[in-house]
Amino acid sequence: MCGIIGIVAGRDVAPLLVDSLKRLEYRGYDSAGIATLDGGALARRRAEGKLVNLENHLKDQPLPGVVGIGHTRWATHGKPVERNAHPHMTKRLAVVHNGIIENFAELRTSLQADGYVFETETDTEAVAHLVTREMDRGLPPIDAVKAALPQLQGAFALAIIFEGVEGLLIGARQGPPLAIGYGDGEMYLGSDAIALAPLTDMICYLEDGDWVVVRKSGATIYDAQNNEVKRAVQKVQSQEFLVSKGNHRHFMEKEIHEQPEVIGHTLAHYLDLSTGTVRQDVAELDFSKIDRLSMSACGTAYYAAAIGKYWFEQIARLPVDIDIASEFRYREMPLSKDTLAMFVSQSGETADTLASLRYCKSQGLKIASIVNVTTSTIARESDAVFPILAGPEIGVASTKAFTSQLTVMASLAVMAAKQRGVIDDAQERALVKQLSEVPRIANQVLKLEGEIEKICRELAQVKHVLYLGRGTSFPLAMEGALKLKEISYIHAEGYAAGELKHGPIALIDDSIPVIVIAPSDRLYEKTVSNMQEVAARGGRIILISDEEGAKNASVDTMATIVMPEMAEFITPLLYALPVQMLAYYTAVFMGTDVDQPRNLAKSVTVE
Ligand code: G6P
Repeated sequence: MCGIIGIVAGRDVAPLLVDSLKRLEYRGYDSAGIATLDGGALARRRAEGKLVNLENHLKDQPLPGVVGIGHTRWATHGKPVERNAHPHMTKRLAVVHNGIIENFAELRTSLQADGYVFETETDTEAVAHLVTREMDRGLPPIDAVKAALPQLQGAFALAIIFEGVEGLLIGARQGPPLAIGYGDGEMYLGSDAIALAPLTDMICYLEDGDWVVVRKSGATIYDAQNNEVKRAVQKVQSQEFLVSKGNHRHFMEKEIHEQPEVIGHTLAHYLDLSTGTVRQDVAELDFSKIDRLSMSACGTAYYAAAIGKYWFEQIARLPVDIDIASEFRYREMPLSKDTLAMFVSQSGETADTLASLRYCKSQGLKIASIVNVTTSTIARESDAVFPILAGPEIGVASTKAFTSQLTVMASLAVMAAKQRGVIDDAQERALVKQLSEVPRIANQVLKLEGEIEKICRELAQVKHVLYLGRGTSFPLAMEGALKLKEISYIHAEGYAAGELKHGPIALIDDSIPVIVIAPSDRLYEKTVSNMQEVAARGGRIILISDEEGAKNASVDTMATIVMPEMAEFITPLLYALPVQMLAYYTAVFMGTDVDQPRNLAKSVTVE
């Protein structure tokens, strides 16, 4: 994830900015930059790759100035090259941004029509020109930001400094966290307490919609309606300086909210959005040379693989076997040499998954893995490694790693389809376009949070829950049940909706809520029939569908979660979010230890 730092001080800030950026390295990044105001003139230094490149650049060309902003960029829109690195600058200002501006394409068109020239592929540049346009229309900096913020849609944390305006730093937050740091005669903005650790332990987190005017003497905070507001300043506990929850209650909540940006970042690695193609150079692997895929994994990673199976088979016409690794390793399955063995693991250390990998290796198979930790044993023992690039996942119940695993598999399915000659260029572009929509829609889905929280008040009262789905919604139903079990300790099962009549229907009465995952896709009507079978037996239904699906459901539901419209291909990536939020808020109501549920471990390195 991108990291932000901003400083208004009475001393040179460049070394302080770089030091804070180093502390943000843990979030992952692929370029970095800083900008300062030197005698009223804006200047910046940026560099691709590691911070040492930026430091070397600064050695050659130092950057004086007592006000500045800095950024570690984790590419979402545009390649990780220096040109796209932050800060982005116009003649009037420099800005750093974390998040996704959903309406950047419309803003760009409108700004270009007014003569503003874009130099990068980033969404952030639209923010720079937007505030500049307000200033060109005669507004001073603070009013220009105030006028620009309501025009931005999406998720953002911003820090802005202005040409010729010493001692002023403006920040804004809608979505990703942004904290104000209170120093001794100096003030700071930062993505989290970790970034600000060497500077101060007195922190105030902005709330969603807040924006702030920061000067050396202090900060004035405004809410989304531009009313001046006070937010609590807290002394940070030392453990928060390690990996921080920001202003989220739990890591799991934070990780759920990181998903739009994380998925955008992962997509940027696997897709070239400028050409609408899948990058073919991410690994040395030719899917046209294999005739079968064998995937093994455990827990949530297994359900991700189960969804991947649908994609590889439908889109790439590649047959897939999926196995729970602890079963696969002892099954002594005959394997053909033309099978690619693929292992999905967040940690890359799960004992059963690793043992399955070693079994396949001993059978002479080529090994691929989809991992988060690229230094892990599973990654090291693979011939081809596909990183999910989700950043550290702390919550034991996997959320962002799950959707990042799906993102990688969806991209690989399109790659495989292309290599196997089963889709043409136009079909590839259409699928890539659908995937590129995921971060924007994910932001919209997160806005359903309040509504979902209300449903969970009731869910927290029950003893059993059933999840139903068809197609890719079937493994997602199982993942939903796993999430709920893991963190709320409520018994839950996920079933293929069509299997209901072969057993689970005997359980239905008004004490068991049935969560039906049913986007209005080609299987929708079949799922609705199953839902009617539940309703006819007095079952209480929580339907997750889109507007059309909700309209056509023709049953009374206990609650309906109305999702945005989207292409069938990407539904599991986005329907995963309400499923995660249902589990999360239910567990919060039950008061369980959400991040470290009883008896569970994040990484299981024993059998
Ligand atoms: C444990 C975790 C799960 C995870 C599973 C597989 O059970 O609690 O969240 O899905 O291991 O872990 P891996 O690191 O291989 O994805």
